[in-house]
Amino acid sequence: MRLLPHTTIPTYLVDSQTEANEALTQELSSLLASSDGSATLGLATGSSPIGLYAELARRQRAGELSLKEVQTFNLDEYMGLTPGHSASYRAFMSEHLFAETDIDLEKTHFPPSDESGLEAACANWESLIRAAEGIDWQLLGVGRNGHIGFNEPGSPFDSRTRRIELAESTREANARFFESMDDVPRYAVTMGVGTILEARRLRVLAFGDTKSHILERVLQGEDDKSIPLNALRGHPDAALYIDAAAAARIG
Ligand code: F6R
Repeated sequence: MRLLPHTTIPTYLVDSQTEANEALTQELSSLLASSDGSATLGLATGSSPIGLYAELARRQRAGELSLKEVQTFNLDEYMGLTPGHSASYRAFMSEHLFAETDIDLEKTHFPPSDESGLEAACANWESLIRAAEGIDWQLLGVGRNGHIGFNEPGSPFDSRTRRIELAESTREANARFFESMDDVPRYAVTMGVGTILEARRLRVLAFGDTKSHILERVLQGEDDKSIPLNALRGHPDAALYIDAAAAARIG
C-alpha cells in the first residue's frame, strides 16, 4: 500500500482489495480498543465494503474484536420497498455483517424510509446521531458519478438527511440486486453531505475500472462542487483506498 503523491484527498493505492480490508479492519480494531469497544460507526452498502465486512466477521469469530458495544448508522435506505425486502439495505447489512457478528441489532440504525412524516423522521435521525456524539468512523463507497451515500451530483455540501431522487446511472448500477430495472426504487433517503462531513474519520473504498474516470476528476481535477466526493477535500481526516484498476487514469 502506498500513499499517492499530489492527490486532492489523501489516497492509498492498494495491491489488492484484501490489503485495504485488512488495513481498515486493523484501524477499526485500534479504535475499538481505545474506546472500550463502544465506537459509533457509519456504514455503507454495495459491493465495495463486502470484503471488509467479511474480514470484520472473521476477526470477531476469531475473538480478535467485538462489535457488541458498537452503535451503527447506515448511510442510506431505499424508499418504497416492502419491509424485509431482500434488496433493502437493512437486509444487505444483516446478510453481510449483522448476522455474522456479535453486533447488537438494537444499536443498528437506518435512515427512515417511509413517505409519511419523513421530514420529522429525518430530523429525528440527525438528533440520534448527535445523541451518539457523532460518528467516529464513516465508511463510504463512491458512485461512478461521484455520489457519496445517495447524494447525487449537485447535492449541496451542507445538505442534511433527506429524500433524494436516484440518478439513472445509480439505478442502472444497482439493478443487479433487483429482478428488473422497473423494480429498482426511484427514491431513497440518504444522510446529507453535511451530515457525512461531520464524521471524525472518513474512509472511502473504490475498486475497479468503473471508478477510474470519477477518481481522476476528483483526485487530480478542478474543485467541482457539483461532485459530492469533492466535499472530502476539506475534511481533516479523510482517506481513499483504491486498487490499480480504479487508479488507472491517475498519473
Ligand atoms: C451505499 C452507498 C453508495 C455506494 C456507491 C458505490 O450505501 O451509499 O454510495 O457506496 O454507490 O457502490 P458499489 O460499492 O456497489 O460500487
